[in-house]
Amino acid sequence: MANTPKVRKCLFPAAGYGTRFLPATKAMPKEMLPIVNKPLIQYGVEEALEAGITQIGFIVGRGKRAIADHFDTSYELEHQIKGTSKEKYLDDIREVIDKCDFLLMRQREMLGLGHAILTGEPMIGNEAFAVVLADDLCAAPTEKDDMRALGQLAKLYQRYQCSIIAIEEVPMEDTASYGIISGELIADGIYQVHDMVEKPKPENAPSNMAIIGRYILTPEIFSYLRKTKPGANGEIQITDALKLMAKEHQVLAVKFKGRRFDCGSVEGFIEATNYYYENVYKN
Ligand code: UTP
Repeated sequence: MANTPKVRKCLFPAAGYGTRFLPATKAMPKEMLPIVNKPLIQYGVEEALEAGITQIGFIVGRGKRAIADHFDTSYELEHQIKGTSKEKYLDDIREVIDKCDFLLMRQREMLGLGHAILTGEPMIGNEAFAVVLADDLCAAPTEKDDMRALGQLAKLYQRYQCSIIAIEEVPMEDTASYGIISGELIADGIYQVHDMVEKPKPENAPSNMAIIGRYILTPEIFSYLRKTKPGANGEIQITDALKLMAKEHQVLAVKFKGRRFDCGSVEGFIEATNYYYENVYKN
């Protein structure tokens, strides 16, 4: 296995239908919805950059132009606002565009998150990589020197060199909205994963530790994804592939520091908007 200790690449699956946000997501991916003045996917790419990752792969479906254009220079706009006070609004996106390389891959059929990740295989090759679901928005922890969730995972990867997924404790009645793990505590906030179940009812859930949208995966995941049969809804689930992998390889789950907002739901989106307006935008 040709793992490099440093994670260099990150996939952003963004080809889902985003049905909970219709009609806003009819012609554009939900990952382009803004929290205050910045689209979700830009927060995600900034988090990847903070984790030291500069090779960014977007897995897209319809509405791919919005993502491609956002991470490209808009000469017309640059020309319009050059030398004005408005230039500052482009500082963050300019930095991201300067520092990262971008690749767009098209998921031709929406066969689930696992299938979307498999679509990214040609970009990844044989090295560990990150996956960010941008609709899970991870805010910076309150401790000043801590990175956001992906940076915390990438740091742990250097030590453990295995697949590492981010988890969060959720209310027991919400387990049916998440992949849920069971495992053994091996260090502070770090679990060796034994089993995982996709969207269990509370009475069948092995715990309340829910997988959220940040992963570091070793490249063996692709062969497990190929072996994974579509679930009841016809989708290839990353949770099922990870469960197979956990039987033969070390898979860790980490309780990350910092708040996470489920921006794929209207309630989480509003909560994130209020939080970012008060704590990030106004500062
Ligand atoms: P979700 O389960 O949130 O589905 O996907 P969705 O279609 O985006 O949203 P709803 O539930 O209909 O409102 C989780 C992540 O996986 C991506 C989505 O873009 C999202 O980032 N995804 C899902 C794909 O890229 N391809 C798929 O076939 C399915």
